[in-house]
Amino acid sequence: MSEIPTRTRVVIIGGGPAGSLLAHLLHVRGIDSVIVELRTRDHVLERVRAGVIEHESAEILRDSGVGKRMDAEGFVHEGVNLAHAGQMLRIDFQGLTGKHVTIYGQTELQKDLYDVIDADGVPLIDEAEGVRVGGIDGDSPMVGIDRHGQEHNIACDFVVGCDGAHGVSRDFIPPGARHSYERQYPFCWVGVLSETPPVDDELIYASHERGFALCSMRNEHRSRYYIQGPADTTLDDWPDDRFWSELTARLPETVADRLETGPSIEKIVTPLRSWVSEPLRHGRLFLAGDAAHVVPPTGAKGLNLAISDVVYLVDALAGHFDHGSMTGLDEYSGVAMARVWNAVRFSWWMTTMLHRFPGISDDFERRLQRAELDYLFGSENAQRAMAENYVGLPR
Ligand code: FAD
Ligand code: DHB
Repeated sequence: MSEIPTRTRVVIIGGGPAGSLLAHLLHVRGIDSVIVELRTRDHVLERVRAGVIEHESAEILRDSGVGKRMDAEGFVHEGVNLAHAGQMLRIDFQGLTGKHVTIYGQTELQKDLYDVIDADGVPLIDEAEGVRVGGIDGDSPMVGIDRHGQEHNIACDFVVGCDGAHGVSRDFIPPGARHSYERQYPFCWVGVLSETPPVDDELIYASHERGFALCSMRNEHRSRYYIQGPADTTLDDWPDDRFWSELTARLPETVADRLETGPSIEKIVTPLRSWVSEPLRHGRLFLAGDAAHVVPPTGAKGLNLAISDVVYLVDALAGHFDHGSMTGLDEYSGVAMARVWNAVRFSWWMTTMLHRFPGISDDFERRLQRAELDYLFGSENAQRAMAENYVGLPR
């Protein structure tokens, strides 16, 4: 752990993908920052989460010097597959949009980001507890933390909350100055990581009477699978045997026949919700990534939104430090939010189309769900719209 500075230009709360990338991109633009992170690095690296990196997100990482291992070890996917009513449909990203996505685990990206901020010399203060923010309504904000029983204060020009969905940064915005929107879905995902070869070269999203299933991967011998489970389910409900048999039952027979199962090396239960807190700025406090918006994982958008928020914010901060301009900072929330809301819409659409909603059997909504999938399976225009959103809209 680095020595704790008493002054910097930008204090970043949270050293996940949003916070680490922000620190690096600021460094590239010659702007100093300090990251204060609640957890240890090992703890952050234990969280297995995203796997899909949008076309432009990958370019951003590559252009800023974080893409070497992603390019060497990640997998370019030029399409994904949808399974429904015994049929499989390939959405041909490359053919429909000329773009692709990269499969590269968030854990690996986080390691790369740690390496690059260490090389940049960005102080990453881990085990920083009780973070508090003051002075954001004036010109000289201050961030306080407690570390191993000692109090530290860091003076700065701006504070950025990148502390994820359970963070505290947004609480420093007065309640009357922000608005939250939320939709909770009546199910969750159970996810398993296993040392088994992926069942397919590409991802498979399956809509089945028993519920949603997703086949993903990390590399040639490591697979990532998810199935929809009840909202109140716990890890204890899902011993490996039950997980594999439920996954098998939800996949088309030709896919299920070649599924290789094995002991799980990691297992999670994650609730699904859409949640947005607006605006992304109050005075000299800014929010980026999951600290301000969470989408259900179905559209693979959360990490990508964290990356796009950060890119907008870096341009705005650089505009201020290089030319004294506040325009970019004033516009940041509106510009970033336009992209966020589109991803909220896309993730909600994917989630609603592919999951089984408990309580809804074969009535109106269930028939609409089928009509939506039938339309997608039959219309190249609908497939292009899905492809365009999945690979990521241009910035
Ligand atoms: P986080 O990763 O949550 O990082 C926040 C950091 O802040 C953490 O390190 C945390 O310890 C720290 N922190 C929290 N509180 C405090 C505090 N009080 N003080 C200081 N530090 C604090 N996204 C995609 O784009 N593609 C996908 O394929 C995808 N798949 C997913 C699959 C699953 C199962 C899940 C759960 C998520 C998935 N996501 C995906 C979403 C993605 O993982 C998140 O959107 C991403 O982690 C957001 O990054 P972040 O840096 O904003 O937040
Ligand atoms: C993965 C996660 C997702 O949410 C998704 O839509 C696709 C892939 C993954 O973890 O590999």
